[in-house]
Amino acid sequence: MKPKPNPPLALLAELTHRCPLACPYCSNPVELTRKEQELPTGTWLDVFREAAEMGVLHVHLSGGEPASRPDLETLVAGAREAGLYTNLITSGIGLTEKRLRALDEAGLDHVQLSLQGVDAALADRVGGYRGGFDRKMQVAAWVREIGFPLTLNAVMHKQNLDRLEETIDLAVELGARRIEVATVQFHGWAARNRAALMPTRAQAQRAREIVLAARERLKGILVIDYVPADHHAQFPKACMGGWGSTGLNVAPDGTVLPCHAAQTIPSLRFERVGDRPLRDIWENGPAFEAFRGEDWMQEPCRSCERRHIDFGGCRCQAMALAGDAAATDPVCSRSPLHARLVAEAEADAAVTEAEFVYRRMNSPALVS
Ligand code: SF4
Ligand code: FES
Repeated sequence: MKPKPNPPLALLAELTHRCPLACPYCSNPVELTRKEQELPTGTWLDVFREAAEMGVLHVHLSGGEPASRPDLETLVAGAREAGLYTNLITSGIGLTEKRLRALDEAGLDHVQLSLQGVDAALADRVGGYRGGFDRKMQVAAWVREIGFPLTLNAVMHKQNLDRLEETIDLAVELGARRIEVATVQFHGWAARNRAALMPTRAQAQRAREIVLAARERLKGILVIDYVPADHHAQFPKACMGGWGSTGLNVAPDGTVLPCHAAQTIPSLRFERVGDRPLRDIWENGPAFEAFRGEDWMQEPCRSCERRHIDFGGCRCQAMALAGDAAATDPVCSRSPLHARLVAEAEADAAVTEAEFVYRRMNSPALVS
């Protein structure tokens, strides 16, 4: 009999896909869930209880913009009551001082604020929302005043990577304890904006140097997590820490997913909360079993010494770039598709003028 997988450490609760921002690299699925299809409050509270009972420690309350849900405070209180550590992942839009204080009362443990750029001109252009940057700065000040630990989440790409040093300095100025410097990933909506977002190889190398130097300089002040530009890397990242090993996602309509982009893999069959216990879906659900462990691997991963380190890379990226979710992630230099991928990435990186295709709930592009 197969051994049972360990319980997941974290649950990403995608409370809603509604969002005032329109980032061109949005990681939500191309097909968005409408408000009417979102799980009601009571069902989310059941999900949090079930998650805690099966051993989950953290819940990341995410979206879209979770503050679009008027019941956010109730959800935080319910997650805390279930015994979960609660992290709010937010653009800051929709949060007032009063609301943040209510979230504090409800027991919110941590705030993670997205950052699109280091000034209003850049940030508002990337986020497609005028006034967004000033609002974020105000929210960061309230967060500090109330005393929430703060993480900044900075997605970096061709148009803001040259300002990475300033981005890190801004995190220190805002009193953040951690910053996630995450180079954009190219599946989902971001794939439509490759020419506008793909960093150059020189930018990717410089970013690495900046991060290493800043980590040294800011020891004890700021933790810097770094997701490098994998199209310019030698090996892929260990996406999700290995499929079905450390975390699970629940989408706004209750679909239980092994990662946020798993619905881009057409062969997978997903279940919803309430179909059967969450623990059972995690341990035995066909979508979770599909790429757990190593049996599914093809060559060159199957016999590669790095397979316990990166687990063959990202399944969703393999689907997007190789057309086969079980293939070696083509960002790996050992993939037969790697040379083509690098050539395409360099062609996209060389484009100097490309308009963003923004992500909006009612965007006509969404329906195409
Ligand atoms: Fe990782 Fe597979 Fe590349 Fe080896 S061949 S480094 S396991 S992606
Ligand atoms: Fe799905 Fe990487 S985003 S496995």
